[in-house]
Amino acid sequence: MAVAVYTEPRMRNLFSFTGSKEPDAAGRKPVHIAVIMDGNGRWAKKRGLPRLAGHRAGSESVRRMLTYCRDAGIRYLTLYAFSTENWSRPKDEVSGLMHLLEGFIKEHESDLLEKQVRLRVIGRRHDLPEKLQTEIARLEKETEAFDRQLLVALSYSGRAELTDAVRRIAERICDGSLRPGEIDETTISANLYAPDVPDPDLIIRTSGEMRISNFLLWECAYSEFYVTPVLWPDFQEQDFLAALDAYAARDRRFGGVKA
Ligand code: FPP
Repeated sequence: MAVAVYTEPRMRNLFSFTGSKEPDAAGRKPVHIAVIMDGNGRWAKKRGLPRLAGHRAGSESVRRMLTYCRDAGIRYLTLYAFSTENWSRPKDEVSGLMHLLEGFIKEHESDLLEKQVRLRVIGRRHDLPEKLQTEIARLEKETEAFDRQLLVALSYSGRAELTDAVRRIAERICDGSLRPGEIDETTISANLYAPDVPDPDLIIRTSGEMRISNFLLWECAYSEFYVTPVLWPDFQEQDFLAALDAYAARDRRFGGVKA
């Protein structure tokens, strides 16, 4: 006899999120979560603080988020930390953010190693200060054998990623190793910044804005979106669990119909 058991959404999480690296049988746990960490500036403004104080608090939220994802058994986490458009921000905000990222790498090195998390940066990394590029390359190498991954999007935009992919594909056409008629979706996916990483199942955006802001434009084709009014520095475990609950309740059909 089949028994239907009703559980509150919050309780469902307690049963479903066991810390395993694989999605649960019903596929209700995201394998890959991507986050548009928005609202640092507004968080600071509300407190009469400089914008950089908001980014510093946002950096603390990143640290907490790594723990939530580890505890929930999320295999891939992608964070939108700096877009190609963010270079147009005031000079002191840009350099402050670069220092913050450098500090984050130094401070979290042991944490990433201990938690066995692989760091990867996606984006036009050659735009970044040289010292930051060196630190990133070092930590990427040190952590490359780990399964769980933290992808940080830096000097990243979805259009830049697609433009770079088109350039690489064009080079292959020029050197004769690819014919235009052979290009399909797999060819494009294979030329993105992290081709081996599955598309994000869930994209979380904080601060209530309803837009994609040039993030993972190719990869988000069938991602589930979750927007919360909470500002990124205020994002806590209950907000993370609420996003997982919302995801678990979605009916993903990928354009098809249920049998
Ligand atoms: C958007 O908020 C946030 C950013 C452009 C920067 C995000 C960076 C961090 C959270 C800190 C460092 C990151 C890592 C991975 C350690 P906003 O400044 O646009 O906020 P606003 O819309 O309220 O002005």
